[in-house]
Amino acid sequence: MPTVAIVSQKGGSGKTTLACHLATAGAYAGKKTVVVDTDPQATAAAWADWRGDYLPEVVTSPPARLGKTIEKLSKQGVELIVIDTPPHADAAAREAMKAADLILIPSRPRAFDLHALEATAEMLEFVGKSGHVLMNGVPARATKMLTDAQDKAKELGLAICPVLFGERAAFHKSSGGGEVASEGEPDSKAAEEVDALWKWTAKQVGMTPGKKRKTAK
Ligand SMILES: Nc1ncnc2c1ncn2[C@@H]1O[C@H](COP(=O)(O)OP(=O)(O)OP(=O)(O)O)[C@@H](O)[C@H]1O
Ligand SMILES: [Mg+2]
Repeated sequence: MPTVAIVSQKGGSGKTTLACHLATAGAYAGKKTVVVDTDPQATAAAWADWRGDYLPEVVTSPPARLGKTIEKLSKQGVELIVIDTPPHADAAAREAMKAADLILIPSRPRAFDLHALEATAEMLEFVGKSGHVLMNGVPARATKMLTDAQDKAKELGLAICPVLFGERAAFHKSSGGGEVASEGEPDSKAAEEVDALWKWTAKQVGMTPGKKRKTAK
């Protein structure tokens, strides 16, 4: 079953935002999508509580139980899994990487975040997998900052996801209300970026992107 892991050793790089937005896009496309939250902070699970009955479902799992959790979800007919992981947690990131068909690494295009990519790249090498860096929170008109960051990621042997997320209020405003950007602000750039990411991701994991439904219920 297509499984996407969201990993980054850096706190606050946008893992949970990315996991919740990507999984919700899957749900809107009519795919039975579940977020597996392996972070003891359980931020994605809290977001799902605020969200109420709307999809995607979010389940929590300690990293050591991730394989079993995925096995159980697979038997339940789940079509897509998005794993959210904690920062500064090697074991959790490693388990998620091992389980994944696609690994996304959100990173802000700034020095401290780029430094943290080194640890993630080393871990990928150890696990024998490749990962795509999704540049997140990219300021407007920061072309040089962006290309420098992408070059640094490439130097580390990481691929670059062709979709990036700008620094957009719609991401944090929506998350706090248990929503995603396209629900509060359907015409926002943030909503557009998530749509593009969904289409790219679906292709990467061999799914059809599907037609967008009106609600995620
Ligand atoms: N592209 C963006 N534009 C604006 N705000 C963003 C963007 N991405 C994330 N944020 C905000 O940045 C903060 C951190 O994001 P998030 O919680 O997703 O990061 P995280 O990597 O999951 O953090 P942690 O490592 O603590 O789990 C949140 O307030 C979120 O709303
Ligand atoms: Mg998080």
